Amino acid sequence: MKYQAVVWDLDGTLTDSAPGIMQSVRYALDKMNYPPLEENVLRKFLGPPLAESFQQFCGMSHEEAIQATHFYKEVYNQTNWKKNAVYPGIRPLLEQLKRQGYYLAVATGKPLNIAKKVLDYFCLSHLFERIIGPCETQYYAKKDDAIADALQGRKDAVMVGDRSMDVNGARVYGIPSIAVAYGYGSQEEFAQCQPDEISQTVQGLYPLLGVEQEERKGYFISIEGNDGCGKSTQADLLAKRLYEFGYDVLKTREPGGSPVSEKIRGILLDKENDSMCGMTESLLFAAARAQHVREIIRPALSRGQVVITDRFVDSSVAYQGAGQQLGEQLVSQINAPAVDGCYPDTTVYLDIDYQIAMKRRESASEVDRIEQFSDQFHERVQQSFKRLNAENPDRYLRVDANQDIQTIADTVFYGIMDRMGVPCASL
Ligand code: TYD
Repeated sequence: MKYQAVVWDLDGTLTDSAPGIMQSVRYALDKMNYPPLEENVLRKFLGPPLAESFQQFCGMSHEEAIQATHFYKEVYNQTNWKKNAVYPGIRPLLEQLKRQGYYLAVATGKPLNIAKKVLDYFCLSHLFERIIGPCETQYYAKKDDAIADALQGRKDAVMVGDRSMDVNGARVYGIPSIAVAYGYGSQEEFAQCQPDEISQTVQGLYPLLGVEQEERKGYFISIEGNDGCGKSTQADLLAKRLYEFGYDVLKTREPGGSPVSEKIRGILLDKENDSMCGMTESLLFAAARAQHVREIIRPALSRGQVVITDRFVDSSVAYQGAGQQLGEQLVSQINAPAVDGCYPDTTVYLDIDYQIAMKRRESASEVDRIEQFSDQFHERVQQSFKRLNAENPDRYLRVDANQDIQTIADTVFYGIMDRMGVPCASL
Protein backbone atom coordinates (compact mmCIF):
# COMPACT_ATOMS: atom_id res chain seq x y z
CA MET A 1 0.00 0.00 0.00
CA LYS A 2 1.31 3.43 -0.98
CA TYR A 3 -0.22 4.95 2.19
CA GLN A 4 -1.72 3.43 5.34
CA ALA A 5 -3.95 6.38 6.16
CA VAL A 6 -5.93 9.06 4.35
CA VAL A 7 -7.13 12.29 5.94
CA TRP A 8 -9.94 14.03 4.10
CA ASP A 9 -11.24 17.54 3.97
CA LEU A 10 -15.08 17.59 4.03
CA ASP A 11 -16.65 20.47 2.02
CA GLY A 12 -15.59 20.39 -1.61
CA THR A 13 -13.81 17.05 -1.19
CA LEU A 14 -16.30 14.52 0.20
CA THR A 15 -19.48 16.59 -0.07
CA ASP A 16 -20.68 19.40 -2.26
CA SER A 17 -22.11 21.84 0.23
CA ALA A 18 -21.97 24.89 -2.07
CA PRO A 19 -25.73 25.47 -2.50
CA GLY A 20 -26.42 25.51 1.27
CA ILE A 21 -23.39 27.69 2.08
CA MET A 22 -24.03 30.23 -0.68
CA GLN A 23 -27.69 30.55 0.21
CA SER A 24 -26.75 31.18 3.86
CA VAL A 25 -24.19 33.87 2.88
CA ARG A 26 -26.90 35.57 0.77
CA TYR A 27 -29.23 35.51 3.76
CA ALA A 28 -26.56 37.01 6.06
CA LEU A 29 -25.77 39.82 3.59
CA ASP A 30 -29.44 40.65 3.28
CA LYS A 31 -29.83 40.79 7.08
CA MET A 32 -26.77 43.06 7.29
CA ASN A 33 -28.17 45.34 4.56
CA TYR A 34 -25.19 44.62 2.33
CA PRO A 35 -25.66 44.35 -1.46
CA PRO A 36 -25.87 40.81 -2.90
CA LEU A 37 -22.68 39.29 -4.30
CA GLU A 38 -22.04 37.74 -7.69
CA GLU A 39 -21.92 33.92 -7.84
CA ASN A 40 -18.15 33.87 -8.52
CA VAL A 41 -17.48 35.93 -5.34
CA LEU A 42 -19.91 33.82 -3.30
CA ARG A 43 -17.92 30.72 -4.28
CA LYS A 44 -14.86 32.21 -2.56
CA PHE A 45 -16.69 31.75 0.76
CA LEU A 46 -16.41 27.97 0.32
CA GLY A 47 -13.57 26.77 2.51
CA PRO A 48 -11.91 29.61 4.47
CA PRO A 49 -13.23 30.88 7.85
CA LEU A 50 -16.44 32.85 7.23
CA ALA A 51 -15.63 35.96 9.27
CA GLU A 52 -12.44 36.46 7.23
CA SER A 53 -14.39 36.16 3.97
CA PHE A 54 -17.03 38.69 5.07
CA GLN A 55 -14.21 41.15 5.78
CA GLN A 56 -12.23 40.39 2.65
CA PHE A 57 -15.02 40.23 0.05
CA CYS A 58 -17.59 42.66 1.51
CA GLY A 59 -15.34 45.12 3.33
CA MET A 60 -17.00 44.45 6.71
CA SER A 61 -15.38 45.47 9.99
CA HIS A 62 -14.41 42.70 12.42
CA GLU A 63 -17.57 43.31 14.50
CA GLU A 64 -19.81 43.30 11.42
CA ALA A 65 -18.22 40.09 10.19
CA ILE A 66 -18.97 38.41 13.54
CA GLN A 67 -22.60 39.58 13.31
CA ALA A 68 -22.86 38.34 9.68
CA THR A 69 -21.46 34.95 10.73
CA HIS A 70 -24.14 34.83 13.41
CA PHE A 71 -26.89 35.42 10.81
CA TYR A 72 -25.28 32.85 8.52
CA LYS A 73 -25.36 30.21 11.26
CA GLU A 74 -29.00 31.01 11.96
CA VAL A 75 -30.08 29.44 8.67
CA TYR A 76 -27.16 27.15 7.90
CA ASN A 77 -27.30 25.23 11.19
CA GLN A 78 -31.08 24.94 11.03
CA THR A 79 -31.79 23.80 7.48
CA ASN A 80 -29.21 24.74 4.84
CA TRP A 81 -26.62 22.15 5.96
CA LYS A 82 -28.89 19.57 4.33
CA LYS A 83 -28.58 21.29 0.93
CA ASN A 84 -25.61 19.08 0.37
CA ALA A 85 -24.66 15.95 -1.58
CA VAL A 86 -21.89 13.35 -1.48
CA TYR A 87 -19.78 13.62 -4.65
CA PRO A 88 -20.60 10.74 -7.01
CA GLY A 89 -18.10 7.92 -6.55
CA ILE A 90 -16.89 9.02 -3.08
CA ARG A 91 -18.94 6.44 -1.19
CA PRO A 92 -17.63 3.34 -3.01
CA LEU A 93 -14.07 4.71 -2.81
CA LEU A 94 -14.30 5.22 0.98
CA GLU A 95 -15.98 1.83 1.45
CA GLN A 96 -13.24 0.09 -0.52
CA LEU A 97 -10.44 1.85 1.40
CA LYS A 98 -12.11 0.93 4.69
CA ARG A 99 -12.46 -2.73 3.61
CA GLN A 100 -8.79 -2.78 2.66
CA GLY A 101 -7.82 -1.65 6.15
CA TYR A 102 -6.92 2.01 5.60
CA TYR A 103 -7.09 4.40 8.53
CA LEU A 104 -9.53 7.09 7.41
CA ALA A 105 -10.11 10.44 9.10
CA VAL A 106 -11.66 13.83 8.43
CA ALA A 107 -10.04 17.18 9.23
CA THR A 108 -12.40 20.03 8.40
CA GLY A 109 -12.68 23.75 9.06
CA LYS A 110 -16.43 23.29 9.53
CA PRO A 111 -17.68 23.37 13.14
CA LEU A 112 -17.38 19.86 14.49
CA ASN A 113 -21.06 19.49 15.46
CA ILE A 114 -22.16 20.38 11.91
CA ALA A 115 -19.49 18.19 10.28
CA LYS A 116 -20.67 15.24 12.39
CA LYS A 117 -24.29 16.03 11.58
CA VAL A 118 -23.51 16.00 7.85
CA LEU A 119 -21.51 12.75 8.02
CA ASP A 120 -24.18 11.12 10.19
CA TYR A 121 -26.93 12.31 7.85
CA PHE A 122 -25.15 10.79 4.85
CA CYS A 123 -24.44 7.57 6.80
CA LEU A 124 -20.68 7.99 6.34
CA SER A 125 -19.52 8.41 9.96
CA HIS A 126 -18.83 4.70 10.49
CA LEU A 127 -16.11 4.83 7.84
CA PHE A 128 -13.87 7.22 9.82
CA GLU A 129 -11.66 6.56 12.84
CA ARG A 130 -11.65 10.25 13.74
CA ILE A 131 -13.61 13.34 12.70
CA ILE A 132 -11.87 16.60 13.64
CA GLY A 133 -13.13 20.16 13.36
CA PRO A 134 -13.26 23.30 15.48
CA CYS A 135 -15.40 22.97 18.60
CA GLU A 136 -15.84 24.72 21.94
CA THR A 137 -12.88 22.99 23.54
CA GLN A 138 -10.48 23.24 20.59
CA TYR A 139 -10.35 25.82 17.80
CA TYR A 140 -7.50 24.47 15.56
CA ALA A 141 -6.24 27.83 14.34
CA LYS A 142 -3.99 26.02 11.86
CA LYS A 143 -5.03 23.14 9.60
CA ASP A 144 -1.86 21.17 10.43
CA ASP A 145 -3.05 20.94 14.07
CA ALA A 146 -6.35 19.47 12.91
CA ILE A 147 -4.52 17.04 10.59
CA ALA A 148 -2.20 15.97 13.43
CA ASP A 149 -5.17 15.32 15.71
CA ALA A 150 -7.10 13.48 12.97
CA LEU A 151 -4.12 11.21 12.22
CA GLN A 152 -3.05 10.85 15.86
CA GLY A 153 0.50 11.61 14.83
CA ARG A 154 0.68 9.07 11.97
CA LYS A 155 2.94 10.01 9.07
CA ASP A 156 2.23 7.09 6.72
CA ALA A 157 -0.62 9.19 5.33
CA VAL A 158 -1.82 11.54 2.60
CA MET A 159 -4.15 14.53 2.81
CA VAL A 160 -6.93 14.88 0.24
CA GLY A 161 -8.49 18.34 0.01
CA ASP A 162 -9.67 21.03 -2.36
CA ARG A 163 -8.16 24.25 -0.99
CA SER A 164 -4.69 25.67 -0.38
CA MET A 165 -5.07 25.42 3.40
CA ASP A 166 -5.43 21.62 3.07
CA VAL A 167 -2.26 21.45 0.95
CA ASN A 168 -0.31 23.84 3.18
CA GLY A 169 -1.55 22.12 6.34
CA ALA A 170 -0.33 18.76 5.04
CA ARG A 171 3.07 20.25 4.15
CA VAL A 172 3.54 21.81 7.61
CA TYR A 173 2.53 18.54 9.26
CA GLY A 174 4.92 16.65 6.99
CA ILE A 175 2.78 14.47 4.68
CA PRO A 176 2.03 14.67 0.93
CA SER A 177 -1.23 16.08 -0.41
CA ILE A 178 -3.60 15.42 -3.28
CA ALA A 179 -5.73 18.36 -4.40
CA VAL A 180 -9.12 17.61 -5.94
CA ALA A 181 -9.99 19.94 -8.80
CA TYR A 182 -13.72 19.06 -8.69
CA GLY A 183 -14.03 21.03 -5.40
CA TYR A 184 -13.86 24.77 -4.76
CA GLY A 185 -10.16 25.51 -5.30
CA SER A 186 -8.93 27.17 -8.51
CA GLN A 187 -6.06 26.38 -10.88
CA GLU A 188 -4.25 29.56 -9.75
CA GLU A 189 -4.62 28.46 -6.13
CA PHE A 190 -3.09 25.06 -6.92
CA ALA A 191 -0.30 26.67 -8.96
CA GLN A 192 0.59 28.69 -5.87
CA CYS A 193 0.30 26.09 -3.13
CA GLN A 194 1.79 23.22 -5.18
CA PRO A 195 0.07 20.02 -4.04
CA ASP A 196 1.99 16.79 -4.69
CA GLU A 197 -0.76 15.58 -7.01
CA ILE A 198 -3.95 16.97 -8.53
CA SER A 199 -6.98 14.81 -9.30
CA GLN A 200 -9.59 16.15 -11.69
CA THR A 201 -12.17 13.55 -10.66
CA VAL A 202 -13.10 11.19 -7.81
CA GLN A 203 -12.21 8.28 -10.09
CA GLY A 204 -8.73 9.75 -10.56
CA LEU A 205 -8.05 9.33 -6.83
CA TYR A 206 -7.71 5.52 -7.10
CA PRO A 207 -4.31 5.47 -8.88
CA LEU A 208 -3.04 8.47 -6.88
CA LEU A 209 -3.84 6.63 -3.64
CA GLY A 210 -2.21 3.52 -5.10
CA VAL A 211 -5.34 1.32 -5.08
CA GLU A 212 -7.01 -0.60 -7.85
CA GLN A 213 -10.74 -0.12 -8.17
CA GLU A 214 -12.56 -3.27 -7.08
CA GLU A 215 -15.50 -4.66 -9.02
CA ARG A 216 -18.72 -3.79 -7.25
CA LYS A 217 -21.93 -5.73 -7.08
CA GLY A 218 -25.00 -3.61 -7.72
CA TYR A 219 -28.20 -3.61 -5.71
CA PHE A 220 -31.62 -4.32 -7.21
CA ILE A 221 -34.80 -2.71 -5.81
CA SER A 222 -38.35 -3.11 -7.14
CA ILE A 223 -41.26 -1.00 -5.95
CA GLU A 224 -44.69 -2.62 -6.00
CA GLY A 225 -48.26 -1.97 -4.99
CA ASN A 226 -51.78 -1.37 -6.27
CA ASP A 227 -52.49 1.38 -8.81
CA GLY A 228 -52.39 4.76 -7.06
CA CYS A 229 -50.28 3.58 -4.09
CA GLY A 230 -47.66 6.27 -4.82
CA LYS A 231 -44.96 4.02 -6.35
CA SER A 232 -43.76 6.44 -8.98
CA THR A 233 -43.43 9.33 -6.50
CA GLN A 234 -41.57 7.09 -4.06
CA ALA A 235 -39.32 5.65 -6.76
CA ASP A 236 -38.32 9.21 -7.73
CA LEU A 237 -37.69 10.29 -4.13
CA LEU A 238 -35.67 7.16 -3.38
CA ALA A 239 -33.54 7.59 -6.51
CA LYS A 240 -32.90 11.27 -5.70
CA ARG A 241 -31.91 10.58 -2.10
CA LEU A 242 -29.65 7.62 -2.97
CA TYR A 243 -27.94 9.83 -5.56
CA GLU A 244 -27.37 12.61 -3.00
CA PHE A 245 -25.92 9.99 -0.67
CA GLY A 246 -23.32 9.12 -3.30
CA TYR A 247 -24.85 6.06 -4.97
CA ASP A 248 -24.78 5.45 -8.70
CA VAL A 249 -28.50 5.03 -9.39
CA LEU A 250 -30.49 3.83 -12.37
CA LYS A 251 -34.26 4.31 -12.25
CA THR A 252 -36.43 2.38 -14.62
CA ARG A 253 -40.00 1.07 -14.93
CA GLU A 254 -42.25 -1.75 -16.09
CA PRO A 255 -43.93 -2.38 -18.38
CA GLY A 256 -41.15 -0.69 -20.38
CA GLY A 257 -37.65 0.41 -19.44
CA SER A 258 -35.97 -0.43 -22.76
CA PRO A 259 -36.92 0.73 -26.28
CA VAL A 260 -38.44 -2.64 -27.26
CA SER A 261 -40.20 -3.00 -23.89
CA GLU A 262 -41.66 0.52 -24.16
CA LYS A 263 -43.22 -0.46 -27.50
CA ILE A 264 -44.77 -3.52 -25.85
CA ARG A 265 -46.02 -1.20 -23.07
CA GLY A 266 -47.92 0.78 -25.70
CA ILE A 267 -49.77 -2.36 -26.82
CA LEU A 268 -50.46 -3.49 -23.25
CA LEU A 269 -51.97 -0.24 -22.00
CA ASP A 270 -53.84 0.79 -25.15
CA LYS A 271 -57.57 0.93 -24.34
CA GLU A 272 -58.40 -0.04 -27.94
CA ASN A 273 -56.95 -3.50 -27.30
CA ASP A 274 -60.02 -4.50 -25.31
CA SER A 275 -60.11 -8.01 -26.82
CA MET A 276 -56.68 -8.92 -25.37
CA CYS A 277 -56.96 -12.13 -23.35
CA GLY A 278 -55.17 -12.68 -20.04
CA MET A 279 -52.64 -15.13 -21.51
CA THR A 280 -51.57 -12.72 -24.27
CA GLU A 281 -51.26 -10.00 -21.69
CA SER A 282 -49.14 -12.17 -19.44
CA LEU A 283 -46.81 -13.27 -22.23
CA LEU A 284 -46.39 -9.69 -23.44
CA PHE A 285 -45.48 -8.50 -19.92
CA ALA A 286 -42.98 -11.37 -19.71
CA ALA A 287 -41.58 -10.56 -23.18
CA ALA A 288 -41.09 -6.89 -22.26
CA ARG A 289 -39.43 -8.01 -19.02
CA ALA A 290 -37.02 -10.42 -20.75
CA GLN A 291 -35.67 -7.52 -22.82
CA HIS A 292 -35.62 -5.14 -19.84
CA VAL A 293 -33.59 -7.58 -17.72
CA ARG A 294 -31.05 -8.32 -20.45
CA GLU A 295 -30.64 -4.86 -21.97
CA ILE A 296 -30.97 -2.60 -18.93
CA ILE A 297 -31.15 -4.19 -15.47
CA ARG A 298 -28.41 -6.81 -15.56
CA PRO A 299 -25.79 -4.61 -17.28
CA ALA A 300 -26.47 -1.83 -14.74
CA LEU A 301 -26.08 -4.23 -11.81
CA SER A 302 -22.80 -5.53 -13.19
CA ARG A 303 -21.56 -1.91 -13.41
CA GLY A 304 -22.26 -1.71 -9.65
CA GLN A 305 -25.31 0.56 -9.96
CA VAL A 306 -28.31 0.62 -7.66
CA VAL A 307 -31.26 -0.23 -9.91
CA ILE A 308 -34.73 0.94 -8.90
CA THR A 309 -37.59 -0.39 -10.98
CA ASP A 310 -41.13 0.95 -10.71
CA ARG A 311 -42.85 -2.53 -10.82
CA PHE A 312 -41.32 -5.89 -11.73
CA VAL A 313 -42.28 -9.58 -11.84
CA ASP A 314 -44.50 -9.47 -8.72
CA SER A 315 -46.85 -7.15 -10.61
CA SER A 316 -47.38 -9.95 -13.14
CA VAL A 317 -48.05 -12.50 -10.40
CA ALA A 318 -50.54 -10.12 -8.75
CA TYR A 319 -52.22 -8.61 -11.85
CA GLN A 320 -52.22 -11.50 -14.32
CA GLY A 321 -51.94 -14.39 -11.83
CA ALA A 322 -54.53 -13.21 -9.29
CA GLY A 323 -56.28 -10.26 -11.02
CA GLN A 324 -56.83 -12.02 -14.37
CA GLN A 325 -57.07 -15.37 -12.53
CA LEU A 326 -54.49 -17.13 -14.69
CA GLY A 327 -53.03 -18.59 -11.50
CA GLU A 328 -50.12 -17.12 -9.59
CA GLN A 329 -47.99 -20.23 -10.04
CA LEU A 330 -48.49 -20.37 -13.80
CA VAL A 331 -47.57 -16.70 -14.15
CA SER A 332 -44.43 -17.24 -12.05
CA GLN A 333 -43.49 -20.11 -14.36
CA ILE A 334 -44.11 -18.02 -17.49
CA ASN A 335 -41.85 -15.35 -16.06
CA ALA A 336 -39.01 -17.57 -14.88
CA PRO A 337 -37.12 -17.53 -18.22
CA ALA A 338 -37.78 -13.79 -18.61
CA VAL A 339 -36.39 -12.94 -15.17
CA ASP A 340 -33.61 -15.52 -15.58
CA GLY A 341 -32.65 -15.50 -11.90
CA CYS A 342 -32.38 -11.71 -11.75
CA TYR A 343 -34.66 -11.19 -8.72
CA PRO A 344 -34.68 -7.98 -6.68
CA ASP A 345 -32.58 -7.81 -3.51
CA THR A 346 -35.43 -5.84 -1.96
CA THR A 347 -39.02 -5.36 -3.04
CA VAL A 348 -40.64 -2.32 -1.47
CA TYR A 349 -44.36 -2.97 -1.10
CA LEU A 350 -46.44 0.20 -0.64
CA ASP A 351 -49.39 -1.14 1.27
CA ILE A 352 -52.63 0.84 1.08
CA ASP A 353 -56.28 -0.13 0.67
CA TYR A 354 -56.89 -0.57 -3.08
CA GLN A 355 -60.03 1.60 -3.07
CA ILE A 356 -58.31 4.56 -1.43
CA ALA A 357 -55.35 4.12 -3.81
CA MET A 358 -57.58 3.91 -6.89
CA LYS A 359 -59.40 7.12 -5.93
CA ARG A 360 -56.04 8.91 -5.76
CA ARG A 361 -55.08 7.42 -9.10
CA GLU A 362 -58.30 8.45 -10.86
CA SER A 363 -58.01 12.04 -9.71
CA ALA A 364 -54.41 12.29 -11.03
CA SER A 365 -54.92 11.51 -14.75
CA GLU A 366 -56.82 9.32 -17.20
CA VAL A 367 -56.74 5.61 -16.29
CA ASP A 368 -55.22 2.99 -18.64
CA ARG A 369 -56.66 -0.31 -19.93
CA ILE A 370 -55.66 -2.31 -16.85
CA GLU A 371 -56.56 0.31 -14.29
CA GLN A 372 -60.15 0.39 -15.59
CA PHE A 373 -60.74 -3.27 -14.58
CA SER A 374 -63.32 -4.01 -11.87
CA ASP A 375 -63.06 -3.48 -8.14
CA GLN A 376 -62.88 -7.23 -7.57
CA PHE A 377 -59.88 -7.40 -9.94
CA HIS A 378 -57.98 -4.80 -7.91
CA GLU A 379 -58.97 -6.48 -4.65
CA ARG A 380 -57.50 -9.78 -5.91
CA VAL A 381 -54.33 -7.89 -6.89
CA GLN A 382 -54.08 -6.49 -3.37
CA GLN A 383 -54.58 -9.90 -1.74
CA SER A 384 -51.86 -11.32 -3.98
CA PHE A 385 -49.35 -8.59 -2.99
CA LYS A 386 -50.15 -9.27 0.66
CA ARG A 387 -49.49 -13.00 0.11
CA LEU A 388 -46.22 -12.32 -1.70
CA ASN A 389 -45.20 -10.06 1.18
CA ALA A 390 -45.97 -12.77 3.75
CA GLU A 391 -44.22 -15.50 1.75
CA ASN A 392 -41.02 -13.50 1.08
CA PRO A 393 -40.13 -11.79 4.35
CA ASP A 394 -36.42 -11.52 3.46
CA ARG A 395 -37.04 -9.84 0.13
CA TYR A 396 -40.10 -7.77 0.99
CA LEU A 397 -40.05 -4.41 2.75
CA ARG A 398 -43.67 -3.53 3.54
CA VAL A 399 -44.32 0.16 4.09
CA ASP A 400 -47.63 1.63 5.25
CA ALA A 401 -48.56 3.87 2.30
CA ASN A 402 -51.33 5.69 4.21
CA GLN A 403 -48.76 8.02 5.78
CA ASP A 404 -47.63 11.37 4.35
CA ILE A 405 -45.22 11.32 1.40
CA GLN A 406 -42.14 12.36 3.40
CA THR A 407 -42.69 9.79 6.16
CA ILE A 408 -43.10 7.05 3.56
CA ALA A 409 -39.96 8.26 1.75
CA ASP A 410 -37.93 8.19 5.01
CA THR A 411 -39.18 4.71 5.91
CA VAL A 412 -38.38 3.38 2.44
CA PHE A 413 -34.94 5.04 2.36
CA TYR A 414 -33.73 3.91 5.78
CA GLY A 415 -35.24 0.46 5.18
CA ILE A 416 -33.13 0.17 2.04
CA MET A 417 -29.97 1.45 3.78
CA ASP A 418 -30.53 -1.15 6.48
CA ARG A 419 -30.98 -3.92 3.89
CA MET A 420 -27.80 -2.78 2.13
CA GLY A 421 -25.98 -3.12 5.45
CA VAL A 422 -25.09 0.59 5.80
CA PRO A 423 -25.08 1.75 9.42
CA CYS A 424 -27.02 5.02 9.66
CA ALA A 425 -26.78 7.15 12.77
CA SER A 426 -30.12 8.79 11.98
CA LEU A 427 -31.92 5.45 12.04
P1 TYD B 1 -47.79 1.54 -14.19
O1 TYD B 1 -46.91 2.09 -15.25
O2 TYD B 1 -47.23 1.26 -12.87
O3 TYD B 1 -49.07 2.47 -14.04
P2 TYD B 1 -49.12 3.94 -13.43
O4 TYD B 1 -47.76 4.50 -13.36
O5 TYD B 1 -50.01 4.65 -14.41
O6 TYD B 1 -49.74 3.73 -12.09
O7 TYD B 1 -48.40 0.17 -14.73
C1 TYD B 1 -49.37 0.14 -15.73
C2 TYD B 1 -50.35 -0.94 -15.44
O8 TYD B 1 -49.81 -2.20 -15.79
C3 TYD B 1 -50.76 -1.01 -13.99
O9 TYD B 1 -52.18 -1.03 -13.93
C4 TYD B 1 -50.23 -2.33 -13.53
C5 TYD B 1 -50.12 -3.16 -14.79
N1 TYD B 1 -49.11 -4.24 -14.79
C6 TYD B 1 -49.55 -5.56 -14.93
O10 TYD B 1 -50.75 -5.84 -15.04
N2 TYD B 1 -48.62 -6.55 -14.98
C7 TYD B 1 -47.28 -6.29 -14.92
O11 TYD B 1 -46.44 -7.23 -14.96
C8 TYD B 1 -46.85 -4.93 -14.77
C9 TYD B 1 -45.39 -4.59 -14.70
C10 TYD B 1 -47.81 -3.94 -14.72
